[in-house]
Amino acid sequence: MTNSQNNKSPLSLYIHLPWCERRCPYCDFSITTDPVGKNDLTLAKAIIKDINNSSPLINGRNFSTIYFGGGTPSLSSIEAIEMILNCVKGHYSNKDIEITFEMNPTDVTKEKVNGLSGIGVNRFSLGVQSFHDAELKALGRNHDKSSALNAINILAERNITMDLMYGIELQTIQSFEETLNQFIESRVNHLSLYQLTIEPNTIYYKKALKLPMEEEIEAMENSAKTLLKKSGYHQYEISSWSKAGFESKHNLNYWMFGDYLGVGPGAHSKITSKDKISRFRKIKPLNAYIKNQKITDNNILLGDDLDMDLAMNLLRMKEGITPNELQIELPKSFLKKYLKGVSNGLLKKDKIGATKKGYQYLNETINLFF
Ligand SMILES: C[S@@+](CC[C@H](N)C(=O)[O-])C[C@H]1O[C@@H](n2cnc3c(N)ncnc32)[C@H](O)[C@@H]1O
Ligand code: SF4
Repeated sequence: MTNSQNNKSPLSLYIHLPWCERRCPYCDFSITTDPVGKNDLTLAKAIIKDINNSSPLINGRNFSTIYFGGGTPSLSSIEAIEMILNCVKGHYSNKDIEITFEMNPTDVTKEKVNGLSGIGVNRFSLGVQSFHDAELKALGRNHDKSSALNAINILAERNITMDLMYGIELQTIQSFEETLNQFIESRVNHLSLYQLTIEPNTIYYKKALKLPMEEEIEAMENSAKTLLKKSGYHQYEISSWSKAGFESKHNLNYWMFGDYLGVGPGAHSKITSKDKISRFRKIKPLNAYIKNQKITDNNILLGDDLDMDLAMNLLRMKEGITPNELQIELPKSFLKKYLKGVSNGLLKKDKIGATKKGYQYLNETINLFF
């Protein structure tokens, strides 16, 4: 089958917890700065309702990974997280599935980390962004270098991934290399490294920013490649670096075109049913979601849209994949466009993936699939 593949694709669960102390000026995620108070318990109840109402979409499958993202999940109480995990207990059989939880450095305490580990969280994602106080201040973050180091110290024995950003205000090639060296020194096994994007509807969009020049950004990317490779990390996806065996199973499922159920305000889903593949999201406003976990922006992927969607996900993986690693049989139209890319030298011959040239001219490569 092509766009109507079987409905037993691996299924991940994404839980969106929108709490933030304040909105960072570059962020356009679905968040609220309303105080958490007891609202985390109210939201947990709505999320549980959402999961229970999703049985037809889950369709008897177990979750292969669980991811608590935000917002700032670490502003929620352990009680709220435990309520949600208790509700999904019947939906995963293997006790060792990857359960990731995003934390901001200032929320990391021994008590919180032990509490989360005790209820099954086994991977912690720490939003550090930079190890330079002036850069963190320019990003509007509520933490500094010393709170990041303190958080890493507390999490030292756990499985951690870290988020860093480049191309940010006040950053130089040297300061970025210092941040990378501090990351390497911290012995964290996984890194998500994002170039700052200026999103519409953010304060950064309206502000005159002094950002690094394009050549400096390129030099930062080259520094990352050299320093991280030398220290045993491999780039398995455009923004993801890992020591062998520590790749994110949850994110790999997204890029391998697996299914995922998203719950919580604004959370996105991709679900394969008997005759279609759909992408949709839950409504964003917190109070509206608490009242009714409505689905919106429901799109069925067909024809060129499906080809493009496949390209945008599969081509993210740097080392390429073989079609038999995928749960979906690639549509003939996709394969036809793919072959054109092979003849242009943009796409790999032996695997599904972009060549070095393909990454260099990424827009051209992606445009092959329109
Ligand atoms: C939405 S945040 C959630 C995690 C946590 N609240 C935090 O900020 O650390 C996930 C990650 O997305 C990245 N991010 C958010 N907005 C971005 C932007 N405009 N450009 C690049 N990366 C961004 C940051 O690295 C952040 O850690
Ligand atoms: S803490 Fe994270 S999710 Fe919240 S506003 Fe800042 S970047 Fe966005």
